[in-house]
Amino acid sequence: MLFSNLKLNNKDPIYIQIKNHIEIMISKGLIPDNSKLPSTRELSQFLNVSRNSIISAYEELKADGVIYSVYGKGTFVNHKNESVNKSWNVDFNCLENEQIKIANDMDIVKSEIPWRDDLISFKSIAPNGALFDIDEFKKAFLNRISLEGHKILNYGYAKGYKPLIDYLLSYMNSKGVDTSNKDILITNGFTEGLEIILSSFTEKDDYIICENPTHNTAKKIFKFLGLNIVGIDIDNDGLNFNMLEEKLDFLEKKGIKPKFAYITPSYHNPTGMVMDPENRYRFYKLMKKYNIPIIEDGFNEELLYSSSHIFPIASLDNLNNGVVYIGSFSKILFPGLRIGWILCDKSVISRIESVKRCKSIHVSFLDQAVLYDYLSSGAFEKYVKKIKKFYGEKFNYAYECVKKYIPNEYILGEGGLHIFIKLKNINSRKLLEKCYDKGVIFMPGDIFYVNEKGEDTLRLGFSRLSFEEIEKGIKIIGDSINSFHN
Ligand SMILES: Cc1ncc(COP(=O)(O)O)c(C=O)c1O
Repeated sequence: MLFSNLKLNNKDPIYIQIKNHIEIMISKGLIPDNSKLPSTRELSQFLNVSRNSIISAYEELKADGVIYSVYGKGTFVNHKNESVNKSWNVDFNCLENEQIKIANDMDIVKSEIPWRDDLISFKSIAPNGALFDIDEFKKAFLNRISLEGHKILNYGYAKGYKPLIDYLLSYMNSKGVDTSNKDILITNGFTEGLEIILSSFTEKDDYIICENPTHNTAKKIFKFLGLNIVGIDIDNDGLNFNMLEEKLDFLEKKGIKPKFAYITPSYHNPTGMVMDPENRYRFYKLMKKYNIPIIEDGFNEELLYSSSHIFPIASLDNLNNGVVYIGSFSKILFPGLRIGWILCDKSVISRIESVKRCKSIHVSFLDQAVLYDYLSSGAFEKYVKKIKKFYGEKFNYAYECVKKYIPNEYILGEGGLHIFIKLKNINSRKLLEKCYDKGVIFMPGDIFYVNEKGEDTLRLGFSRLSFEEIEKGIKIIGDSINSFHN
């Protein structure tokens, strides 16, 4: 309290002592400009002096222009304190570490071309919000909050909300994964799961194997953590196993052992390819031989439209511990929920649980509990059926339009929310400029490559577009390509 250290003496007039005290406090910057002083009644009671003494002190300060009164509101500090108001400009640029620089250099959101309302955008692969199952999710929210609001609004456990963990263990079990030696850590989406694993088990300058092209966010995390990236090409024929074997051999000869191999076997981003069961097994066996643990990204697994379900690589691992599976609800439900999970060996979960606690305590228990309610109510299965039909039709339509309108080297995509195109010697960034002028944008493929390649590739996300927009937009892209030759 500002007046608790004011010791009044019997020598000087009380109002002068109070006035001086207030002036000193203001000059030291302890009473900020325009802050409110206590009322004369409050202060007189607190200091146990007459109210007139306070009124006199305030009147003197007002006469000196140090304070001012506003009728009906109170008395405020007017004084401009020099030492407090003097400018203070920290040079945060000089304080930046390597990681903030890397994150900013790679932040494609900050270098996006300006949005216009008339654009047909194929850039995003986010789900279509118009399909969201708001009514059922609202029910789940009201149900959970009335059942256990007192619990889920309090601190929870770093590992996650137990009923959701149990649900996900049996969900993974239904995908063919033997979960008896496994456990789950709930994370803020796939992204945090990957970051937790890599920041826990890698050091700067370690090596990581991944597909090339790969998920742009994963590439950013690898670089953010200072990892050396060993990209293995994906083309029309899928993952280039010859290249993988050559690189593994080369690294081994140089005495380098990659810490992990990151792979998205189903509806890979950006190519949309699905690795067939034989190649999953081949990949698994190779990594086992070289003792390189696999990080399997299962983010899109549910969005298959025509092929029958393919078991995740984690299902080949049986009771071993060589596969760290990271799942996410971002594409099959709502990305704004930011809920994903790491499934791997129990002892690993027990170790990374502490990392999660250290970094962010836990994922919102409210969100986890509502999601659990939604999943276990049966609404999830119905919703997945609905979106598969919706996106499946859009996917087929977009694929046909690409075949019809876009001259290409090849088209990739077997599901998910996107299609990948390799053009015939056309730079996709130059193409983007032309298309932007005509009201169409897409994602240039180079952002997914780990070696400055892919300048003649692009990714089309179609989830939020109507059939008319899909056809119109793809035709404009095709016409723009043709205009390069004219
Ligand atoms: C390859 C891949 N993995 C995972 C995700 C989901 O990430 P998150 O759960 O952090 O939203 C995405 C989203 O686009 C992705 O493309």
